[in-house]
Amino acid sequence: MKHILVTGAGGYVGCVLVPELLNKGYSVTAVDRFFFGKEKLDAHENLQIVQEDTRRLSAHYFEGIDAVIDLVAISNDPSGELFQDITYDINHYSRVRTARLAKERGVKRYILPSSCSIYGFQGSTKRVTEEDSTNPLTTYAKANERAEQDILPLADEAFTAVVVRQATLYGKSKRMRFDLAVNGMVYGAWKNNKIPLMRDGTQWRPMLHVQDTVDLMCLLLEEDSHKINGEIFNAGSESGNYQLERLADEIADTFPEDIDIQWYGHPDHRSYRVSFEKVKTILGWEAKWTAADGAMEIYQALQANELRKDLDTITLDWYKELMKWHDILRGMDWDGSLFDIEKEEVPLKI
Ligand SMILES: NC(=O)c1ccc[n+]([C@@H]2O[C@H](COP(=O)([O-])OP(=O)(O)OC[C@H]3O[C@@H](n4cnc5c(N)ncnc54)[C@H](O)[C@@H]3O)[C@@H](O)[C@H]2O)c1
Repeated sequence: MKHILVTGAGGYVGCVLVPELLNKGYSVTAVDRFFFGKEKLDAHENLQIVQEDTRRLSAHYFEGIDAVIDLVAISNDPSGELFQDITYDINHYSRVRTARLAKERGVKRYILPSSCSIYGFQGSTKRVTEEDSTNPLTTYAKANERAEQDILPLADEAFTAVVVRQATLYGKSKRMRFDLAVNGMVYGAWKNNKIPLMRDGTQWRPMLHVQDTVDLMCLLLEEDSHKINGEIFNAGSESGNYQLERLADEIADTFPEDIDIQWYGHPDHRSYRVSFEKVKTILGWEAKWTAADGAMEIYQALQANELRKDLDTITLDWYKELMKWHDILRGMDWDGSLFDIEKEEVPLKI
């Protein structure tokens, strides 16, 4: 594998994945609308930036590509509920389109970064495996499931297709997300000595460091096809399966000060405890980071002023802000410009 096309490359995962791929000697074509800014990916001689919408990405971008990692998405439940049709369009339609185009153009491998959120609500504390029934509750989760269902059948001898159902991620990225559980909890504890916790705290959720998911994707690029082709892998770790109240306690313990819980929201109906045996048994892969390590990493970055909670670190708030300014600017736009206008010159002196 030499040349990798990454969609959603300017996002939270992409901003960790792309530099890692470049470090490993790959060439990368990074495709994104760059809703969170283009400047987050540093220039590199082996990096080609393509600012484009994946729903209309031209087939020629797949020429000479060895593998695709299709990160693109409206990437969380609240944004998915606000933009339901768009979420299906991007997270389902565009990813199936990309996988088909990739296959047609002779790309050998395609990785779909899906989500454990497709397990939705599991009535028992049994760890759900890749073979168990899914129960997607949200538009975001349903779109992921549809993408999996339409993409995996494309797998054949010439085209390796593999799904990674990622746990909820945490950790540092240049496109930072404080709307992810661990990251948001650490920020609250650091800023106000209060950990935000969605009611009622008993819900199960698996957690995984962003560097771990990036390592797994790199492994999948090089792994023997027969081990992964047409397969789904849950990505996370047994020790990363948390009830959120216990996660909050663990994060509070990493702080020297007394930290309180700040409850918010209605009781969360999503709850799933996940088995990560398959990825360990078949690929020998295990997550290296713990939530406590990740909390410390973010705490130190906040202390060093390397991370800030700007509006664009909360995905939903940022998309709403972009929509607001898009409307405002459209109303002010004259002849495609804010200040310059085409005018009929009238001499001021007669
Ligand atoms: N972060 C997590 O906890 C987590 C967990 C499980 C799965 N995932 C999945 O991993 C992937 C990456 O997530 P993330 O956290 O990096 O999300 P993100 O929101 O940070 O990144 C998504 C990127 O896609 C881009 N984008 C959106 N629509 C586009 C379009 N139509 N055309 C081109 N670019 C477009 C955005 O500009 C953004 O840079 C997503 O598929 C997400 O569902 C993430």
